Amino acid sequence: MTKTTIVIFGGTGDLAQRKLIPALYNLRRKRRVNDEVNVVGFARARHDDDSYRDLLREGARDLGGLKAAPEEWTEFAHCMHYVCGDLGDAAAFEELGRKLTEVEGTGGANRLFYFAIAPSLHRLAAEGLRDAGLTTEESGWRRVIIEKPFGKDEESARELNRALHNVFREDQTFRIDHYLGKETVQNLLVLRFGNAIFEPLWNRNYVDNVQVTVSEAVDVEGRAGYYDASGVVRDMIQNHLMQLMCLVAMEPPDSLAPESVRDRKGDLLRAVRRWTPEEFRQHAVRAQYEGYVDEPGVAPGSVTPTYAALRLYVDNWRWQGVPFYLRSGKAMEGKVSEIIIQFKSPPLSMFERLGGSGFAPNILSICVQPDEGIHLQIDSKAVDAGFITHPVDLNFHYKDELRFGQELPEAYERLLEDAMEGDASLFIRADQIEEAWNIVDPLLKCWESPEASAPETYGQGTWGPSGSARLLREDGFLWQTLCGGH
Ligand code: BG6
Repeated sequence: MTKTTIVIFGGTGDLAQRKLIPALYNLRRKRRVNDEVNVVGFARARHDDDSYRDLLREGARDLGGLKAAPEEWTEFAHCMHYVCGDLGDAAAFEELGRKLTEVEGTGGANRLFYFAIAPSLHRLAAEGLRDAGLTTEESGWRRVIIEKPFGKDEESARELNRALHNVFREDQTFRIDHYLGKETVQNLLVLRFGNAIFEPLWNRNYVDNVQVTVSEAVDVEGRAGYYDASGVVRDMIQNHLMQLMCLVAMEPPDSLAPESVRDRKGDLLRAVRRWTPEEFRQHAVRAQYEGYVDEPGVAPGSVTPTYAALRLYVDNWRWQGVPFYLRSGKAMEGKVSEIIIQFKSPPLSMFERLGGSGFAPNILSICVQPDEGIHLQIDSKAVDAGFITHPVDLNFHYKDELRFGQELPEAYERLLEDAMEGDASLFIRADQIEEAWNIVDPLLKCWESPEASAPETYGQGTWGPSGSARLLREDGFLWQTLCGGH
């Protein structure tokens, strides 16, 4: 790898401390990046290089849980530099230019600009860089990573895409969704397309319904300023859950070439049935955890949902008529991200079941986190009990695969490495962002209209509002879990 500078806008922020710096440290330790990779943090807080390094050491340790040996950290810390400035100030970009020359030397370097800033500032940052001449490519490539949320609806996302494309080409633009960097999420591709047994079953003939759950035990954690204006649909559903749904439901790509995977995901999003705001009333449930309005930073009387569950359909040959249920919430009983494929029951019931009648459906569960792995529920004969059956769980846990001292890599490690390699497979293309907004915009319209009824409430530390179970009961289903949810 030739020399590369990662310029982090929002360099003193939570993401840099919690995720980006620990990811870079780990990449360096694993020798996946070398000492030719430098970081320049850019933010408004006053720091020099030394105090910036101290801030990141403490943040990476306290927020990011990084356990760095002191001498290894000291060696790593030399790569970090700082520029203090305001995004609206041309002089700050000139100062950044000077710092880059100092860090990169006369030979120049590749530059990865990381926008870990509020979406309203993305355009300003891109234009500031261009106007200061920092995006020209004569001494290396220039790429930009944009954190989510990308816009706040379809229109603003389109506008942002247009503005960014005035500075960066699409092949220079890496829109990040950190869920795609998770090991278990990438394993979905292997599970589906590296095994022959699933594909024949992966369709409307054998699948009854698909469920995607991302529940979090944490509340808004002091991020109410951002969260109250966003809510769960913008924060989680439009991006993380839609991306999971894409990987579960898309057609097989020709290869793992970035555009091949991204084309299939785009096809899937285009095939998702569009509900109108009125239709969404029957197909979605929103709720707020008790006490949310008392959180510091939440507007009095706020109706921002912290929980949502929705029913979607994919109008193509593979999935016609199969409901996809998506749900996500904060302040719930546990942290579970799980994808459930519930298969149809056998056509004939020959066996009696322990403690009941009917069938336990075959369920394939992909546990994205925390106990990363795969479960398959099948019916089996109960021991020494005639032909009485009960469900059993065949399972695989990633933790059993790890060698001594090995840990599952953090999503940001893979994504930073891919962006430096120029591999956009796990990043979101402009059209996908716009399609995903197009699906949820009517839902936001429905819930944000002045006539909307108040959201349901749910107790903190529960599995969410009762309306969520109702949504599935209407179709004769239940939320399922094989990895510890509810
Ligand atoms: C972020 C959201 O994108 O994802 C947060 O903004 C959320 O609200 C987080 O807590 C969840 O990520 P993970 O990796 O902890 O499941």
